[in-house]
Amino acid sequence: MNNDLTVLGIESSCDDTAAAVLRGRTILSSVVLGQTSLHADFGGVVPEIAARAHAEKLDGVVRQALAEAGSNVGDIDAIAVTAGPGLIGGVVSGVMLAKGMSAALDIPMYGVNHLAGHALTPRLTDNVEYPYLMLLVSGGHCQFLHVSGPDTFRRLGGTIDDAPGEAFDKVARLIGLPQPGGPSIERCAMRGDAKRFALPRPLLDREGCDMSFSGLKTATLRARDKVIVQKGGLTEQDQADLSAGFQAAVADVLQEKCSRAVIASGPITALCVAGGVAANQTIRAGLETVSQAAGIPFIAPPLALCTDNAAMIAYAAIEQMQTRAPDGMDLSARPRMPLDTDSIAMLGSGKKGAKA
Ligand code: KG4
Ligand code: ZN
Repeated sequence: MNNDLTVLGIESSCDDTAAAVLRGRTILSSVVLGQTSLHADFGGVVPEIAARAHAEKLDGVVRQALAEAGSNVGDIDAIAVTAGPGLIGGVVSGVMLAKGMSAALDIPMYGVNHLAGHALTPRLTDNVEYPYLMLLVSGGHCQFLHVSGPDTFRRLGGTIDDAPGEAFDKVARLIGLPQPGGPSIERCAMRGDAKRFALPRPLLDREGCDMSFSGLKTATLRARDKVIVQKGGLTEQDQADLSAGFQAAVADVLQEKCSRAVIASGPITALCVAGGVAANQTIRAGLETVSQAAGIPFIAPPLALCTDNAAMIAYAAIEQMQTRAPDGMDLSARPRMPLDTDSIAMLGSGKKGAKA
């Protein structure tokens, strides 16, 4: 890996406008500007609002990343930009900016798959050796990836409908807890009895590592409705028991499917996670049990690098520079961009954008 190259990363595929400057594995700066307040009234990310905000904020965020790194544009050796998958308006904004900078500065540009950025993060933070297993689990993604090189990913399974974070957010809304749903459900579940409601563990009876969270969400809704019919509303204890039951079901599914993914992987150096849902302590405990049973380390990068950021995009390009040529001005922004082109595309499109 070339540790002397200074690379500017740009990420704008969902609802975070981000830029970062890396020199090798050293993060000189990483700026992430969220859009939560812009979408708050709509119960989800509105693609048009996201695209406009990215177009307005990207150059300022890039300037801030350069300033915080103590660099100016002349110090940048290459540009890395998320080329997909994601909400197309935002991805186009990033790709157009990268093309403009690449042409004006006469430096190479690399279009990076957003999922490759997440999947390679354990190498940035912990220098994990290939091959390893990555569980990507966030508001928009859920898949098991066998990672054996900067451009070599095998998808072992993934959700066939909602991503877990999306399900946490929807269930929180259904039982009257604030957004983002994951942290509120986790907090509320601490006072709850996970066994009070018998919620399903979808697809555990089906072989392989594919998952489904949409039916679990509906089952939680039914359980809620039954309580409402009986009592006319939900008490705090009902909310806590529903939260605990739902969280336990997600954790059980992820743990069981993860142990299957470890077996399907063959020899691996580590079990890694990325994505906002990886912050959940019950889910983490389940995954750590799997890694202990397999005798491999459990690696969870710090949350700021687990969730969407541009440092991971710059880092992916730094690794990929050794295996491929830069992209040209024909680089296209892609709403769908599977990492593993040999496996069948996943179904559905999540609240946070297209899945891959
Ligand atoms: O990776 P992320 O920040 O953004 C994208 O999805 O791109 O993940 C956000 C998701 C949200 O759906 C949020 O509810 C969920 O991660 N989340 C959690 C927790 N913290 C965040 N889910 C469960 N437990 C948590 N503690
Ligand atoms: Zn992401």
